[in-house]
Amino acid sequence: MITDPEGVHFLQWCLPRLHLSWPGFRKVRRQVYRRLNRRLRELRLPSADAYRDYLENHPGEWALLDTLCWISISRFYRDQRVFQQLEDEILPHLAALMLGGGEAELRCWSGGCSGGEEPYTVAIIWRQRLAAQFPVMRLRIVATDIDPQAIQRAERGCYRASSLKQLPAKWRTQVFVTVGEELCLKDEYRACVTFRVQDIRERAPEGTFHLILCRNLVFTYFDEELQRETLRRLTESLSPGGALIIGGLESLPEGSWGLEPWLTRTGAYRKTPVSF
Ligand SMILES: C[S@@+](CC[C@H](N)C(=O)[O-])C[C@H]1O[C@@H](n2cnc3c(N)ncnc32)[C@H](O)[C@@H]1O
Repeated sequence: MITDPEGVHFLQWCLPRLHLSWPGFRKVRRQVYRRLNRRLRELRLPSADAYRDYLENHPGEWALLDTLCWISISRFYRDQRVFQQLEDEILPHLAALMLGGGEAELRCWSGGCSGGEEPYTVAIIWRQRLAAQFPVMRLRIVATDIDPQAIQRAERGCYRASSLKQLPAKWRTQVFVTVGEELCLKDEYRACVTFRVQDIRERAPEGTFHLILCRNLVFTYFDEELQRETLRRLTESLSPGGALIIGGLESLPEGSWGLEPWLTRTGAYRKTPVSF
């Protein structure tokens, strides 16, 4: 059974080989140990060392190990300050800028969307707070995740109450209907979100986006080389003047990325030059 310190040694050995970063996994390592232990039982292997030998002799196993490192934690309205600033400043600013440029569709990409909590939170904020101010503007969200099970959950749109505990209380009743033990999002909040299984290391959804949310994935779990490669893809997908939001505790790798801090305390950047 893998625990500390054997597990730490194992992760410090295998994560760099997957272009993942040990410091990002430190806090969630026990979740990874549980999955590793399940895999060890399936393979009837006694220890992390035995699994390491197995990996050296079965190159195909690395792809499975990668799946054990997908951390799926998410919640609606996760990090209140980010969503408050999206509502107060970023979304109204983007919508006004686009209207000025004659565009009527605000395109958003949520990369690493887990069970849909993040893109649905944007959809809720838009419909509840901003749609009436911008009646000609349509919001369209593409949400991607590598994990097909996460995308299935997202498409179902039903959650335990614990996923909603940070959402303002009145929205819980306005936006969800109770079905048995779950709360299911009403259709009108789901209509603007499209989900897709996609590996952010390999591709971005087609087209350009005015808003990209990439939180608690690339800049926490990927190593620096992979962060740089992925950030290049993210900036290519961002319209000039568009906003990139990363996690509140994350930072971008050093370099000139054509981005300027917008609201640094919430991890918001803006692509320069500012024009649509
Ligand atoms: C910790 S969750 C973050 C969810 C959401 N962005 C948030 O901040 O609440 C990370 C998500 O990234 C997904 N993920 C991991 N590796 C990925 C990859 N290479 N491409 C796309 N998604 C990935 C995981 O499956 C997981 O659902």
